[in-house]
Amino acid sequence: MDAPTTSTDEPSIAVTGLAAMGAALARNIAGTGRTVHVHNRTPERTRTLVDEHGAEGLVGADDLDALIADMEPPRLVIAMIASGPPIDDLIGQLRERLDPGDVIVDAGNSDFRDTERRAGRLTGTGIGFLGMGVSGGEEGARLGPSLMPAGDRWAFELAEPVLVDIAARATDGTPCCAYLGTGGAGHYVKMVHNGIEYADMGAIAEAVELLRRGGRDTDEMAAIVEGWNGGELGSFLLEITARILRVVDDVDDDVVDDVVDGGTADRHLLLDRVADRASQKGTGRLTAQEALELGEPATTIAEATFHRSLSALVDRRRSAALGDTTIDARPSGIDPDDTAAALLACRLVALAQGFDLLAAGSEAHGWELDLPRVAEIWRAGCIIRSVLLDPIAEALRTDGPHLVTSPAVGRRLDEATPGWRRTTVAAIGAGVPVPVMSSALAWRDALATDRLPTALIQAQRDVFGAHTYERTDRDGTFHSSWTPTRPGTHP
Ligand code: 6PG
Repeated sequence: MDAPTTSTDEPSIAVTGLAAMGAALARNIAGTGRTVHVHNRTPERTRTLVDEHGAEGLVGADDLDALIADMEPPRLVIAMIASGPPIDDLIGQLRERLDPGDVIVDAGNSDFRDTERRAGRLTGTGIGFLGMGVSGGEEGARLGPSLMPAGDRWAFELAEPVLVDIAARATDGTPCCAYLGTGGAGHYVKMVHNGIEYADMGAIAEAVELLRRGGRDTDEMAAIVEGWNGGELGSFLLEITARILRVVDDVDDDVVDDVVDGGTADRHLLLDRVADRASQKGTGRLTAQEALELGEPATTIAEATFHRSLSALVDRRRSAALGDTTIDARPSGIDPDDTAAALLACRLVALAQGFDLLAAGSEAHGWELDLPRVAEIWRAGCIIRSVLLDPIAEALRTDGPHLVTSPAVGRRLDEATPGWRRTTVAAIGAGVPVPVMSSALAWRDALATDRLPTALIQAQRDVFGAHTYERTDRDGTFHSSWTPTRPGTHP
């Protein structure tokens, strides 16, 4: 994008889109002492937010004309609205109202391809555009998200003081915000973040299910998960899982009162009453699609995504002409330490597959992503934040983009493999579905196997399609008639 004469002034700031995330982000920015102009498509929401929190530094505007008129150039307009047509419509309206030197930030979960296109729509207007992944949910937006901006460099430099001030801080004090490159690079990084998130959430769900199937009560499960969270498995997702395992179903007040009094009332976990149909807004799907497009085997991320879809096929599950495959309702051999090893391995595999995809995407889309820096800005604020991300950033710095080639990561995976394999085998033997744990193990084993059975696939392709094959003992490509040379009852 053509960079107008960059202003040295701090921009005036607006947030448009005041649902949970937008309102939280606006309050976070206002908390830095800056005035934030707020706007929502429905003015009532704007008025409610200003009534409740205006004193924090929020100034409401009922429409875009008023919003822009209230702001001094250069203007920074952060949009926290649904991806797709709404952001296209908003950009169209802002394009007519903003001046050269102003900046639009799409802070939603947009498809990176749309972001690339939208950047093009603003060419020649002098209006800057950033596509920014924002991770951390409402609490993160309010208290400190991980921010993944990309687009016009000059636009980032105008927004940087604000973004750095509101971003989460890693334990070394570094803000979890970095300029990631041009065009859709920021939304790409957020997309991959969400793919890793799907896999990590799936692995945790499988691990907790195995604890439950192993006959542990809710307090035992919660205590084990809290113990895991206190060690190298420490992560936001495990932290909230431990919290979830401590929430009794509050529909029956008498039960809650009794529990609070230490009673022994029927302590149904609220979790046990949550429907098991997993939803998804689509970011995991985008990750799997991109991995297929680039030929990157992000198998565990894809499995986690497909498993959400499978869980939602309630009618088909009910009508499946299948018997109860659970051989053993109480699978033996499910040891919490082995399960923890499986969980750690799955997180490492999800991260390895995610960074493999980021490396492939960076090359395919010409972004030159700084992968160690991506790992660093995921150390706090975002949903996949975990203790592992510091060593992961170090491994990326010292050993390159493919974590499975890092001696430190390989060693840790090898240490986890025996327990991971025992857990996966025990689960499968007992008929407990573990798509994340098993797909991650297959990925690991395939990478460690010298000769894969895919040679037969090459032979089959050459038989029916003359697609040729390569040989192990000489260069070139070959085709054979595959006429049997050994006696036999060949068809
Ligand atoms: C984040 C989350 C967030 C995500 C929603 C819904 O990083 O804060 O990833 O952006 O979109 O939590 O995600 P799904 O509906 O895809 O599970």
